[in-house]
Order: sequence, then structure tokens, then C-alpha cells
Amino acid sequence: HGRIDLAVIGGDGIGPEVTDEALRVLEAALALDGTGVDITRYELGAERYLATGETLTDETLASLARHEAILFGAIGAAPGDARVPSGVLERDVLLRLRFAFDHAVNLRPSILPAGIESPLADPGEVDFVVVREGTEGPYVGNGGAIRAGTPHEIATEVSINTDHGVRRVVRDAFERAAARRGRLTLVHKHNVLVHAGALWKRVVREVAQDFPGVETDYLHVDAATIFMVTDPSRFDVIVTDNLFGDILTDLAAAVTGGIGLAASANINPDGAFPSMFEPVHGSAPDIAGQGLADPRAAILSAALLLDHLGRGALADRVRAAVRDDVAEHGAASGSAARGTRVIGEAVAARLA
Ligand code: IPM
Ligand code: MN
Repeated sequence: HGRIDLAVIGGDGIGPEVTDEALRVLEAALALDGTGVDITRYELGAERYLATGETLTDETLASLARHEAILFGAIGAAPGDARVPSGVLERDVLLRLRFAFDHAVNLRPSILPAGIESPLADPGEVDFVVVREGTEGPYVGNGGAIRAGTPHEIATEVSINTDHGVRRVVRDAFERAAARRGRLTLVHKHNVLVHAGALWKRVVREVAQDFPGVETDYLHVDAATIFMVTDPSRFDVIVTDNLFGDILTDLAAAVTGGIGLAASANINPDGAFPSMFEPVHGSAPDIAGQGLADPRAAILSAALLLDHLGRGALADRVRAAVRDDVAEHGAASGSAARGTRVIGEAVAARLA
């Protein structure tokens, strides 16, 4: 009941198209509960940057902070668009939002639905979540270059790992594991990254004391990629740092139906700032504006938003509707015959 105050950032490329369908399904789901949605749209991304030179102003950030949650499409100019310096939108919009709103938990579930042909010969029952740290690691921009552009250039990119940051994401992962199949895998590379690795291992050992029902396990990130392909059903909850999590979750998407079905949540654990829900995929400028993009990753991200709002039953109904849609029509991304809007309407119709 009541109303949800939602900020919507469609962004670039296919972002606005898939976000419209996610909104369609979100509104249909909440209507079942008699809940309305107040939508405030924010125009961010390449167009705004080219028109004004702005990425994300302090003013916009302050305004976004006042909403209950953010639904996000995708950000990023077409590769090779010389007018937009590479990565500037990704860093100054997407990463700035994650950092400013303290999105420590980057949650990325991977489920292989029925009716999907996995690229794996024998995937088994795949149902795991990656809890990726979202505010630290090598993402923070802590580095620099000296003698840049010369043969003597020295470039550093120093990963940040704090006890506080690691502990809160590890605790979140343990809580999820306790509510699921009770198995938590830390993925790192502590044989080489000894300092950060020791911190992650110690924190996992310490937090594990509070979760006697959860079995913990450790994999180096390289080995984890092997198991994700040879035996993905072994995983329940994976907790890992920002960069390892970025790489692993693209692989996880590839083995569970593709990036067109991969959803994510950027969660602020203490609720001081709005959490943000976005498909894992990018802006795909090559197919933008044609109604060809698969909106189901965005729709599943809206389901994570429903979970976050405490509407787990509605979230389950959205996931079931997507599952049935996939079982009937498969995972191939939208085609001219079954495009973005047709898929969105079909999923929404199944909720009724
Ligand atoms: C993702 C994306 C981003 C990331 C990019 C666009 C900065 O790849 O959400 O996984 O690396 O986190
Ligand atoms: Mn990524």
C-alpha cells in the first residue's frame, strides 16, 4: 500500500528502452498490492554530457539522495565516439553514484532457468549469488602516472581494502548464505595479493564465528573461473572484491543464459542512501533505439528492487513471470518479431 518514490535514470543506448519495460512490470507488480509509484526521471549520460559538459552535478546527486530507490538503465557512449573521453561517464556517473551512495553490496544473482541452453555441456542446477564489494578495491581511482607518455612511464592503481568495507560486505554475504544453502565461498588471490588477501581471509574467519550454520570455502580467482565453467552448481554465495566480482559476474552471466538476463542491485547496507537497481549489461549502442534489446535483465533488477522494498512475494511473482517467459520463448535477446516492448508486455501480462 501507499506509494514508492522512485528515481529513474534511463541513461544511454538501450538503457531507456529496457528501463521502460522494467518500470512497466514494476508498476504492474506493485499495483497488485495497491501500491503506486511516483517516478522522477533524471537525464544523465552522453547526451547531457555533450550538451552541457556535465556528468553528475552535486545538485543532481543531492536530489537523487532524497528518493527511496533508483532504477538505472545503462551509461556509456558508443566506443570510438571521440566526443566523449573513454570511461568518463562510467566513472563520473555510475561509479560516482555507487561511491556517493555507499553501495557496498553489489548483488548479482545467477540462475540457469529452464528452457535455456547453457554453453556448458552439463551445467547441473545453477543457482548462486555473487556478493561483489562495490565501493573499494582497485575501482577507487587511487593511483597515478609519472613520466606519462614516455618510455619511462610509471602507472599505479592501488587497491583499497578497509576492515570496515570488507567486514560489511562479508557480513551481508554470510546473512544471505545462512538464508540460502549455507555455503559461502571467498574468492580472492591471497597467494599473490598478500596484504588485501590476508585482510579478506581474516575478516571471513572472524565473521564466520557468528554463522556456525554456514560452511566457508576459499578459491583463488583463477581457479574460481574454472569451477564456474566446469561445476557451477557447487556455488551458493560467493563474496569477493570489486574487480574480481566484475569479471566473475560477466562469466556467471555467460553460463546462465547470457547478459540479457543478468540483474544486479547496488545496496547501501545501512539505508542512509537510496539503493540502485540495474541490469549488468551496458548501453549496447549498436542496437540502441531499435526495440531489439532484451529487457529481462532490467525486469529482474526491478525484482531485486521489490525485494529491497520488503515486497519479496511480489519479487517472486516477477521472477516467476520471467522464468515462464524464458521457458516459453528462450533466452535469445529481442528480435524484430519479439522485441523489447513485446517481451515487457508479455512479462507484465503474466503477473495478473
Ligand atoms: C558493471 C560495469 C561497470 C563496472 C563499468 C561500466 C564501470 O562493467 O556494472 O559490471 O565495472 O562495475
Ligand atoms: Mn562489469
